[in-house]
Amino acid sequence: MDERRIYGKKIAIDKDKVRGFYNRQAASSESKMGSVFLGNQSPEVLEQKNSYCKDYILPMLDVKDHTRILDLGCGIGRWAEFVLPNCGCYCGVDFSEEMIRAAEQTCNSQGGSFQLHCMSVVDAAAQDAAFYGSTFDLVIISGVLMYLNDPDVERIFRCLPSLLAERCTIYSAEPIGLERRLTLNDFPSQTFHTEYSAIYRTHEEYDVFFDPLLKSGFSVAKREPMPKFGENYADTARYYTILRR
Ligand SMILES: C[S@@+](CC[C@H](N)C(=O)[O-])C[C@H]1O[C@@H](n2cnc3c(N)ncnc32)[C@H](O)[C@@H]1O
Repeated sequence: MDERRIYGKKIAIDKDKVRGFYNRQAASSESKMGSVFLGNQSPEVLEQKNSYCKDYILPMLDVKDHTRILDLGCGIGRWAEFVLPNCGCYCGVDFSEEMIRAAEQTCNSQGGSFQLHCMSVVDAAAQDAAFYGSTFDLVIISGVLMYLNDPDVERIFRCLPSLLAERCTIYSAEPIGLERRLTLNDFPSQTFHTEYSAIYRTHEEYDVFFDPLLKSGFSVAKREPMPKFGENYADTARYYTILRR
């Protein structure tokens, strides 16, 4: 059995290695988008993935000029480019200094009200609303939970309800394990010539994490698979979920 590709069992991954990976991605990738969209690195495919978020997902998130947005694991600030300057405030959080540097450039070039915090998403979710000035109306978590161990994902969803306004939206998009959980633990990535770690949880596992949200008045408004963009992985698929309260 390959100890770096583990099915079913819960294996913790090393978040410092994840941070190192994304620091290198931000500093060395040929394109900014290629540093956060792994997989196929052709400029056309990267553009298709970005347009899908902007043209298909964003309209469902109901962003208005007063909407306060928390982007957990914001990377280069891809979502900031979609929403600034036409939202109340964009707040991006990432633990990679290099990603935050790139996000700062994005936000400065867009204008509007923004704040960026270089910290772990777990610490960010545990802050009270006063830390950010007020509660948020929308949380975006896109391609981030896959890098967190289970106790940290649980902590985030336990904390979020009190950080959000009474009426609010959570958009969560992650690759999942289709039949069973898959963990890549220091797996050699051919595309990035480095070792890579991530957890592909099942829908059922994510449903357990969403439970505190359902108990505090949220319901699942939509969940569906995302397009494959020509990438065919046997064991995993990308899904998004929109929860509203
Ligand atoms: C696949 S990229 C996605 C970026 C962005 N959400 C997007 O959709 O373009 C994952 C990002 O999550 C960040 N990240 C991973 N684990 C994190 C953690 N524990 N705390 C803060 N940021 C984290 C990485 O540094 C990286 O920028």
